[in-house]
Formats: sequence, C-alpha cells, structure tokens
Amino acid sequence: MTIIRDQETLHRPFRATLSQIAGLMVYEVTRSFKTESVVVQTPVTSTAAEQLIGTITIVPVLRAGLGMIHGILEVMPEARVGHLGLARDEETLEPIAYLNKLPVDIDAGPVILVDPMLATGGSASAAIAMLKDAGATDLRMICLVAAPEGVARLNQDHPDVTIYAAALDERLNEKGYIVPGLGDAGDRMYGTV
Ligand code: PRP
Ligand code: URA
Repeated sequence: MTIIRDQETLHRPFRATLSQIAGLMVYEVTRSFKTESVVVQTPVTSTAAEQLIGTITIVPVLRAGLGMIHGILEVMPEARVGHLGLARDEETLEPIAYLNKLPVDIDAGPVILVDPMLATGGSASAAIAMLKDAGATDLRMICLVAAPEGVARLNQDHPDVTIYAAALDERLNEKGYIVPGLGDAGDRMYGTV
C-alpha cells in the first residue's frame, strides 16, 4: 500500500503492486465461499474433504478494476470474468454506465465485484445494482482503498454485500477524492495522469 500511495511510483510498478495486493486479498474473500463435503481417494486411503460449490465470477469495474484481475486470476485461474464499465462524472460525482458484459448464468456461484477505489460509493452501488439485475445473489466486493462515506453508502444501499478493503482511509475531500488515498487509480495505472 505504501508503494501505490507514493506519488513517485510510476504506472508500471503501480500496476504490478496493485495486482499483487488484489491477489493476496483473495485468501480473505474466499473464506466466505460455500463448500460441500466430499470423499476423496488419496493414494493411501479415502478421506473426507471440502470442495467449492458453484462457478466463481469476478467482475472488474473498468477501468481501474481491470488492474486487479491478473493478480486475482493467478490465485483462482478457473474464475470467469464479467465486465462493467462505469465512469464517474467529475462534476456531479455520479457514475455513468457504458459497458455491461456479464455471464448469463451469473448466479451459478459467488460473484466478486472488483474496484480499487470506494469513494462516494456511487460507482460500487450502481455496479452492484447491475449485478443484481443480472441475477446475482451471492455478492461481495474487493477494493484497495475505502472511504468511510463509501462504506456507509454501500451498507445502506446493499447491506447484503460484504466489503473487503486493504485500507480504510480518513475521508473524502471536496472533489470526491479519498484522503490520504492514492489519487486517480485509473490514471495512475495506465499513465494517463
Ligand atoms: C474510479 C474508481 C471507481 C470510482 C470510485 O473510477 O475506480 O470506479 O472512481 O468513485 P465513487 O465511489 O465516488 O463512485 P473512475 O470513475 O475515475 O473511472 P476510471 O477507472 O476509468 O478512471
Ligand atoms: N476515484 C479514484 O480513482 N480515486 C479517488 O480518490 C476517488 C475516486
């Protein structure tokens, strides 16, 4: 987190580090996945074991969420990836949807919404509404930096969705940026600052 917060970090190490943190967070978020008991035959004997139920779907919010996908897929390469495109209007801070590409059977298993920044919570709330419209019922979100305002908004709009955040920051500033935060995640990731 220190590396990605540092304004001196360029897009290449920024992207690599953000992806790496996202992969580490998989261990935490998958604890809540449902499993079923099975019997497995080892070379020595048969024994009771657990296996995941359903097909996992990861849904990054473009653009910045895309930067977390590589690290997550390294840990669970079998997951499917849906895409939601949302851009925050920097005047109104309201999200505008421009892409919705999700698996038709999205409710075949757990769904993880992925976006590094939870600021006002407008984008995440809209994204979760789109996922629910598509049929998702078993949802959680991974972000890297959350603002208390965004957490409160999501808890109000979607109390059924657990948020996993690498850091809970202090507040939003007057422009809707997270303080201390890391700036504009999409711009820093793709070098478009
Ligand atoms: C950023 C970020 C979130 C959103 C968070 O995306 O990746 O999607 O802002 O802000 P909110 O909680 O106030 O809605 P942005 O809209 O800047 O688009 P980008 O990823 O294409 O840069
Ligand atoms: N989006 C970002 O990328 N950064 C913020 O601090 C807030 C919204």
